[in-house]
Amino acid sequence: MKKNKIIIANMKMNGSLSSNEIYLTKIKNNFNNFKNLDIGLCLPYPYLFQAKKFLINTKIRWGSQNVAKFENGPYTGEISAAMLKEFDSKYVIVGHSERSTAYCESDENIADKFEKVKKYKMTPVLCVGETLIEREAGIMERVIASQLDVIVKIYGAGIFENSIVAYEPIWAIGSDMAATPDQANKMCNYIKDFICKEHSCDFKNFNIIYGGSVNPKNAVQLFASESLNGVLIGRSSINFDEFSHICSAAENS
Ligand code: 13P
Repeated sequence: MKKNKIIIANMKMNGSLSSNEIYLTKIKNNFNNFKNLDIGLCLPYPYLFQAKKFLINTKIRWGSQNVAKFENGPYTGEISAAMLKEFDSKYVIVGHSERSTAYCESDENIADKFEKVKKYKMTPVLCVGETLIEREAGIMERVIASQLDVIVKIYGAGIFENSIVAYEPIWAIGSDMAATPDQANKMCNYIKDFICKEHSCDFKNFNIIYGGSVNPKNAVQLFASESLNGVLIGRSSINFDEFSHICSAAENS
């Protein structure tokens, strides 16, 4: 049976109560009829309750862009996996490069966050990707392998069951320079082989998606790639028309 395509919106630090109301109403009215898509909106934390209020009786799910690596305690400003679960979050982005660069997040921290999301039965969307310098040096596979390997070493490859890995080359984020379908295909295949073949895991539910300057123009070609199960969208997800265009392309791919 053909798998549904996964479309995750990383809305980053955008939105307001009033603009979300308009956006979520449109999503609710227009996106619920897509049959072949699993759509998730990753919003800023304060708006999770609003996403739940609007989307509760739809097929569209919601979630966050980060989580604490700790369960609870004296961690000022952090939000735990248990708290996200209370708002019925499904997806949690972990290891996004905009966070790991700005806050010097280590691969070990990211591994602990991934584990917390799994523990609370949500779906981690783990971002991995290389810089332009690393790509030009031809070491992108080694970079991705080391990012994945930390999680495998600490928690075992089995933890990737029921999870999503997003290949997000850092040079493609916010740059209008998306990876070509061929580049995305190669790296997504590499990730799949690394997790599934090298560690002999036969997962029922493990998906690899691509993120980085996905827009209505390049989406059709990306969806044609067999190794990609979907996309992680930044800027084009906050523009309803663009987002809708991408979802229609995915639905018909
Ligand atoms: P853009 O789609 O704006 O390039 O952002 C991609 C991204 O960071 C998704 O997580």
